[in-house]
Amino acid sequence: MHEVTGWRCAVCGARTALTERMPWRCPKSTLMDRHHVLQAISAQLEPTDELAASPNPFIRHDRRLAWAAAAAARGMTDSARTSLVSEFDDAVRAVDGVGFVTTPFERSEVLSDELGFGVQGGVWAKDETRSVGGSQKARHLFTVMLHLRALELLGQMSVRPPLAIASCGNAALAAATLARAAEWPIDVYVPTWMNDGFGDRLDALRANVHRCERRSTDPPGDPAMLRFREAVEVGAVPFTVQGPENALCLDGGRTIGWELAEQIPTSGGPGQLDAMFVQVGGGAFAACLGAGLAEMGQDVRLMAVQAAGCAPLDRAWRLGANAASDWNTVMPPWSDPVSLADGILDDETYDWISVIEALRTSDGATVVASERNIERAHALAHRAGFDASPTGSAGLAGLLQVADAEANPNGLDRRIGVVISGVAR
Ligand SMILES: Cc1ncc(COP(=O)(O)O)c(C=O)c1O
Ligand SMILES: [Zn+2]
Repeated sequence: MHEVTGWRCAVCGARTALTERMPWRCPKSTLMDRHHVLQAISAQLEPTDELAASPNPFIRHDRRLAWAAAAAARGMTDSARTSLVSEFDDAVRAVDGVGFVTTPFERSEVLSDELGFGVQGGVWAKDETRSVGGSQKARHLFTVMLHLRALELLGQMSVRPPLAIASCGNAALAAATLARAAEWPIDVYVPTWMNDGFGDRLDALRANVHRCERRSTDPPGDPAMLRFREAVEVGAVPFTVQGPENALCLDGGRTIGWELAEQIPTSGGPGQLDAMFVQVGGGAFAACLGAGLAEMGQDVRLMAVQAAGCAPLDRAWRLGANAASDWNTVMPPWSDPVSLADGILDDETYDWISVIEALRTSDGATVVASERNIERAHALAHRAGFDASPTGSAGLAGLLQVADAEANPNGLDRRIGVVISGVAR
């Protein structure tokens, strides 16, 4: 049995069948109104639904994944899905040097000591810098790719539509890496100011890079995003890490929560966690991490961290936003986003509904990190041996922020988790 049985829009309630060929967006979502987002409808797994003994989270958690449920409903057998994942994983390894494995989650002596934790407590870090593409982004995109490959293998897709993404950061790198592994054409829409070194890396992965200048006829908004949506309108696959553009990215992203849920009770793990601090940009990451933990019965307070220079989720949280709130009222674009953590400068937290649900369910909260703490966290992460970007250590900045605000925060036995991600480049 599989857990996911279909899709439902968190905004308008419209439903999409599990076997929909392209289950990216709510049927009511339009080019002018993207304020809809599909969420997977889940049933409870049977106790007899054992998980596979595999270090690859996509094989291990097959029963929980929506792409797998859809492929199974189309007649793809268990072994055919396992073969698909492992063959594609080999191809990813050939391109990137690493494949999908459970990433380490270990107590960091440096982080724990410098933050003043006692021996019973401490900071446990999930190290995503050694993941595919150097960040967690590929987890989200892998399920989109598996879905496409399944359609192909089942003879339900004869022509490969191009993949499209608007990004000049870790998401673009992850997307281009997976596309290269699948030898699938990809168009990456980037702003004119993208740095050349990053462009060279995308070129090396044979992505078609489009530098997007603003056109006089363009409506307000990011020109790269406009070009991306135009491409999707004419048939490209939204190969992106934003739930409202492609709900299937919220499928594989949950693997990080499932991994954590299994690592927390192990002998090297914290046993239980009091809180998990996670950096938030578009919000897909925190949404998936929170959902993944909750689905595995782990009750951990989710702390959603943004930079002071761009904190639209915190604003929505303070407004008491919930799924029934008017999107434009609670999530207007943040004007002039700015921070050293430039990967989380999304002016809109696209996946705010799911993040806020995860905060409520887990008794968590938003945290706004000062720029000084973003800088401190970056230096601290490097002292602790993580080759992370300021974006990738921004969750830790949230922990510093809370520690600053509390009188005697860490000399206690609290056990805190952070995700360190986004390799420095
Ligand atoms: C290293 C890293 N961590 C976290 C995030 C935030 O993820 P999301 O945009 O899904 O909130 C990003 C996004 O670019 C990132 O690159
Ligand atoms: Zn809808």
